[in-house]
Parts: sequence; structure tokens; C-alpha cells
Amino acid sequence: MRLQYDPTALHRVTDPKEFGRVAVLLGGDSSEREISLLTGNAVLSALQRRGVDAHAFDPRERALAGLLDGRFARVWIALHGPGGEDGTLQGALEYLGVPYTGSGVMGSAIGMDKLRTKRLAQAIGVATPDYVVLRGPQDFDTAIERLGLPMIVKPATQGSSVGMSKVESEADLPTAYGAAAALEPSVFAEPWVTGKEYTVAVLQGRALPSIRIETPRKFYDYQAKYFRDDTRYFCPSGLSNQAEQHLANLALAAFEAIGASGWGRADFMSDETGRPLLLEVNTIPGMTGHSLVPMAARAAGIDFDELAWRVLETSLARRSARP
Ligand SMILES: Nc1ncnc2c1ncn2[C@@H]1O[C@H](COP(=O)(O)OP(=O)(O)O)[C@@H](O)[C@H]1O
Ligand SMILES: [Mg+2]
Repeated sequence: MRLQYDPTALHRVTDPKEFGRVAVLLGGDSSEREISLLTGNAVLSALQRRGVDAHAFDPRERALAGLLDGRFARVWIALHGPGGEDGTLQGALEYLGVPYTGSGVMGSAIGMDKLRTKRLAQAIGVATPDYVVLRGPQDFDTAIERLGLPMIVKPATQGSSVGMSKVESEADLPTAYGAAAALEPSVFAEPWVTGKEYTVAVLQGRALPSIRIETPRKFYDYQAKYFRDDTRYFCPSGLSNQAEQHLANLALAAFEAIGASGWGRADFMSDETGRPLLLEVNTIPGMTGHSLVPMAARAAGIDFDELAWRVLETSLARRSARP
């Protein structure tokens, strides 16, 4: 069994029975397990409230082939980070012939990699902060010369600000590099961008209202994202209609560039002239109480349960087909 995908298909469902038995994939074994459990359980309850025959399925506890024994018709992927969001799971599901929510193998794999996302965004004219790839201490001088200080050092494929640090002086760079390189070999630096931070959720081919984020912390780090209540969110974000439309177009273009589909979120920061720069695309963003996509959806009149439902509808763009 293979899956056939029609990216232009927008299937709206009114009867929960049409979805069949649904597995909400949650937990997993990435560093974002904790957040995935929050996302997954919130989605599971939402689907159940809407009458969907939905069940939790933690791939850390059960082999994926159990989806076939459990006669699941489709899955709602609520896993973040490597192993869930990076295309490997999507590939396994293609192989098993089980339709799933959101982006396919390629969009997921590229979206997981901030460096490749930046390269593709640049290629289609979506601006992104300058960067220098750090392969080791031999690249430190280049980074400082080219990007200046402060800068930010990031591992390319982690999420939730894990392994990222702000570098204020040259002496901090080895520690920052070490923290990122301990997680994975692909590390890069960007100049520190000082403008406002925005995020744009994308749902079924449309951009939702942008959100502006403000944190009293150095940046929107793991604590600020999930646990602090002094992070402030503005939606509507305060942009003019024209700037809002422009940002929406950039988010959709970034999605298109990396081959993402269904739903997700693009993160931006503006430079000192107010020009938005793409930071990254998230193909499975968080859906916790503090999360951004539900906030943007609410501003568009879509409540949490409806959002979880619409994301599930994105799985209908993939259908089982004999090879
Ligand atoms: N170049 C930058 N300058 C200043 N702050 C940044 C920069 N890049 C990222 N940040 C901050 O770090 C946060 C996380 O960065 P991001 O690239 O979105 O990775 P992720 O969300 O996957 O951890 C952003 O939300 C922003 O607050
Ligand atoms: Mg981000």
C-alpha cells in the first residue's frame, strides 16, 4: 500500500465517522517529548469532544506497525523534533500506507533543518538573517568578522530553542558552539537581530493572523515558550494591513519553498528597518495552552477543537493507493 498525495485537495469533513479510527501520535523520544505529550493530549481531547474515534499512540511504547493491527485509518502527528517532525516518521507512514496530517517527507525533512530552510528561502527571495556555518573553532573568526557581535549560535535541526545561545563577546563563542555541537554536528551562527518578533500560522493553504511576541528574557527560549507567564503575545500584532499581507505572503512562500503543506508556522524577526527576516518553518508546531497556532486560529474565529479537526482534515489529501 502506498499513499497518493494531492496538495491542492482541500477536503472538508462534517461527519466525524468519515475520519475512521484515528491515532494521535504523541510522546516519542526526542528532547521535545514533554511538549509533544502536552500537544498530543490537548489534540486527543479536542478530537474526542468533536466525536472523533481518536486514541493516543506513543511510538516510544509501541512499534509503529501496531497502527496496522489497531486498524487505524489515519494519524494526527503530534510529535515534535527529530523522529517525528523530520520526515522519518512520515516516510514510515508512507511505507505502511497510513495517511497522516501535515507536511510530507520532504517538507518535514527540510523544515527540520534551519540551514536548508534558509538556503531555499533565499533562493526564492524570502529574506533571512545572514549566517555562517560553524564546523569547528576554525570558523569562529569568520563568524565574528562577517556577522559581528552579538550573534546567536544554533544547532540546525533542534527545536524549542534547545542548544541555542546568544554570544555577546568573542570569549563566549566556544561555549556557545560547544552547547550546540553537543547535540548535532550541523551548527551555524546568525547576527543578533534586534527588531520585533512575529510568527505566522498556516492552515490549509491560508495564513492566519500574525502574532507578535515579546519576552523580558534574552530571547524567546524554552522557558519563555512553555512555562513563563511574562511572555507577551499580541494578536492582532499591530502591523498595517499591507505589512500583515506581506508577512502572510512570505510565510506562504517559505512554506512553498521547502515543500511544507497542511499546517505549520513560520517564525520571523524584523531588522532595524522593519523588514521581516525568516528564522524558520515549523511543520509540527506546539498545540499547548501557551501555543501560538491556537492563538492565531482563535483570532480567525477557529477554536481549538475546530483547529484540531481542520488539521486532521489535512490527512485526507493523502489516500491509500495500490502502487
Ligand atoms: N538571529 C536572531 N537574533 C535574535 N534572536 C533570535 C535570532 N534567531 C532566533 N532568535 C530568538 O530565538 C528564538 C528561537 O529561534 P528559532 O530560530 O525560531 O528556533 P526554534 O524556535 O526552533 O528554537 C526565536 O523565537 C527568537 O526569539
Ligand atoms: Mg522558532
